[in-house]
Amino acid sequence: MTLDRRIAEAADLVTVALDALLPRADGPEGRLTEAMRYAALGPGKRLRPFFALETGKMFDLPERPVLRAACALECIHAYSLVHDDLPCMDDDDMRRGRPTVHIEYDQATAVLVGDALQSAAFEIMAHPDTHADGNVRAELVRKLAHASGAQGMCGGQMIDILGVREDLGGVARMQRLKTGALIAYAFEIPLVMAHAQEGERHALMGFAQDLGLAYQIVDDVLDAEGDPNLLGKAAGGKDAAKGKANYVTLLGLDAAKERVELLAEQTRAHLDGFGERASVLRESVDFVLGRRN
Ligand code: IPE
Ligand code: IPE
Ligand code: MG
Ligand code: MG
Ligand code: MG
Repeated sequence: MTLDRRIAEAADLVTVALDALLPRADGPEGRLTEAMRYAALGPGKRLRPFFALETGKMFDLPERPVLRAACALECIHAYSLVHDDLPCMDDDDMRRGRPTVHIEYDQATAVLVGDALQSAAFEIMAHPDTHADGNVRAELVRKLAHASGAQGMCGGQMIDILGVREDLGGVARMQRLKTGALIAYAFEIPLVMAHAQEGERHALMGFAQDLGLAYQIVDDVLDAEGDPNLLGKAAGGKDAAKGKANYVTLLGLDAAKERVELLAEQTRAHLDGFGERASVLRESVDFVLGRRN
């Protein structure tokens, strides 16, 4: 099967599963569940779930537990985007080719959508249907809280919003926190479920961290030169106009792209010890970093 077919099939699987997992409500609070569904079921690439599912296959794990945990992760990701787009953050009107949640609904609803998607994520993860072993569930919950909180995504978002213009090392740290932590968590799901050995954990975490950093640099490149119609979100140098500190605004486009090339090679090298087992992950590096949307 081709890689784009594989990614598309994983995305469909995740969207169907999310649709079944997300609450539906009647009554006045139905506005919230409707907006949650608008945010989470929109046409995202579902790359984090794709990585969790593919890595689950590497460890011969059954699909259902990995899929449920990947849906929980996707809820956290969707919440991070809803809040990221708010006027007090990046102030964006378009996401995934449609109006952002605060434009389609209103700001208060968008804040609540983020909050409730976060709660939904932990409810899904902690549910016995996600994994029979309570210790595995507790470990998955703890690591998801860490990856999304002050020492992960939220911490990175704080640095991003402050626009601290220090050295590249500081920018790399911000990228690893705001984007890398949730991407790395996609690999934690199968690692925890498979009780993977330390060597495998170390290699896959190295892979995930370099991939996460490269992924955000590509996002910053696309902000500068991408096609908003393909991206489904604003571009045209919006980050530079907002005074954001990233590889493109600090180094320039060409140097940022060179950095992605170097990182791609470094990322793939983490997989050397897995041989053929990691062929899909290896192939996905170029695919994901060569994206136009
Ligand atoms: C967008 O994430 C935000 C970043 C961390 C760069 P994605 O590029 O995964 O967005 P969707 O989920 O496909 O919309
Ligand atoms: C977002 O980074 C990272 C998150 C944690 C949501 P960006 O602000 O660059 O993502 P886009 O470009 O709005 O998708
Ligand atoms: Mg942002
Ligand atoms: Mg943004
Ligand atoms: Mg961006």
